[in-house]
Amino acid sequence: MNYQTVDIEKEFKYLADRYNPDGEFDAKLYTMSNAKRGLRNADGTGIVAGITRISNVHGYLINEYERVPVDGELFYRGVNVADIVAACSKEDRFGYDEASWLLLFGELPTRDDLELYSRLIQKCRQIPNDFIDDVIMRNPCRDIMNKLARSVLSLYAYDEDPDNTSEVNSLRQSMELIGRLPVMMVAAYQAKRRAFDYESMFLHMPLVGLSTAENILSTLRADRQFTHEEALLLDRCMILHAEHGGGNNSAFVCRAVTSSGTDIYSAISAAIGALKGPRHGGANLKVCDMLDDIKEHVRDIRDDDEIRNYLVKIFNREAGDGTGLIYGMGHAVYTRSDPRAVILKREAEKLVDEKGFRDDFTLLDAVERLSPSILNAKMIDDTGICANVDMYSGLVYRMLGIPRELFTPLFAVSRMAGWCAHRLEEIQTCHRIMRPAYRPLTKSVEYVPLDERKN
Ligand code: COA
Repeated sequence: MNYQTVDIEKEFKYLADRYNPDGEFDAKLYTMSNAKRGLRNADGTGIVAGITRISNVHGYLINEYERVPVDGELFYRGVNVADIVAACSKEDRFGYDEASWLLLFGELPTRDDLELYSRLIQKCRQIPNDFIDDVIMRNPCRDIMNKLARSVLSLYAYDEDPDNTSEVNSLRQSMELIGRLPVMMVAAYQAKRRAFDYESMFLHMPLVGLSTAENILSTLRADRQFTHEEALLLDRCMILHAEHGGGNNSAFVCRAVTSSGTDIYSAISAAIGALKGPRHGGANLKVCDMLDDIKEHVRDIRDDDEIRNYLVKIFNREAGDGTGLIYGMGHAVYTRSDPRAVILKREAEKLVDEKGFRDDFTLLDAVERLSPSILNAKMIDDTGICANVDMYSGLVYRMLGIPRELFTPLFAVSRMAGWCAHRLEEIQTCHRIMRPAYRPLTKSVEYVPLDERKN
């Protein structure tokens, strides 16, 4: 066949029309089959798929089988993340390395541990030149998450012992990934600028002695300049994004892939793919789009009634991106508050006036205040709905001049520590391949020979 002569669009259209004859499943079928849609119980809580010592996402209490809303708390290895941020602020220091050590090694590092770990992570930032040239520069992509997933997968070929899942080897690979991902992210962005935006590309080398947040800002900006306050804000954002329980979508994906016994690069690239989705890490971009859309359509951003009316339109799919989602609101576990949103909002406000983002901040605050009464109508129970971390992370990135293509990749860079901790725990403790079941709904159908089938 000569493929040049095939009208491929027409053919696809024909096949698309033929697809999905049965449509959606009746929701009752899930109940009848005792199937947990989205691996959730009927009350929206996640089914218990495992046990973990890595973190605890605390969003409600159960009383007499009912969810009781509480202020959200997040613990890394039992340590309240709010305390980590508070201690770092008090001592005016960076905390991401401390948080990632804590997640990987299970306890707070001593000063010596931390210095050693930071030195190692710095060393890991050195990526082989041929990797940057061959994997990142030669094959740029508009979407940096896609590029990161492919780059992580490519690291397999540069690892002399990629399939060894021993704890020692897995730790080595984890630290390399934690060190390398930020460098790969910035290089992937530069390659994208040159290839797709026709802008100059600059590849600054990471500097020794800088924290991860400082290095990101220093390699991302043409003049390499940044203020201490800017880097601290990015660091806080990274601490808050480092981990979020084994049930969060990308960590669960990482654990599921790991459970097959495959290599770390396969597991982490799959996790990056999961995080890319707008219902997961991609939501921070969606919040920014929503913010711009509201600013375009609402005349007075201090008028609550006008904002509420527009949010109702978004919810009713008459405005926004048509999905009916008010981005930045809602969470599978948190009810009254998401501690990450609370902390990030407070940290962000410190730079809001200096950076000229007061109006955006005010508007997001209004969305946070006004949305619950609109969304409550849809909720399974009345445990409440709160702003999630994505409500303010996009604002932080914008204030730091970080391009929108990097909003979700920055989430991935931060979350690498959590993913690696979950992979290590899965290897160390589970020893069983994840293999849930799907109830088949089809009756048996007789096989009809090809010539006897009707058009
Ligand atoms: N806007 C509109 N509808 C929302 C909503 C929001 N922000 N949050 C939840 N809902 C809807 C859900 O889609 C669901 O509707 P359905 O029954 O028709 O499927 C219903 O309310 C109940 O949702 P719930 O069980 O409380 O939440 P969830 O665990 O299914 O979803 C999120 C959690 C985060 C995916 C969801 O709140 C959401 O999509 N938020 C917007 C995107 C976002 O900000 N994501 C960042 C996550 S950190």
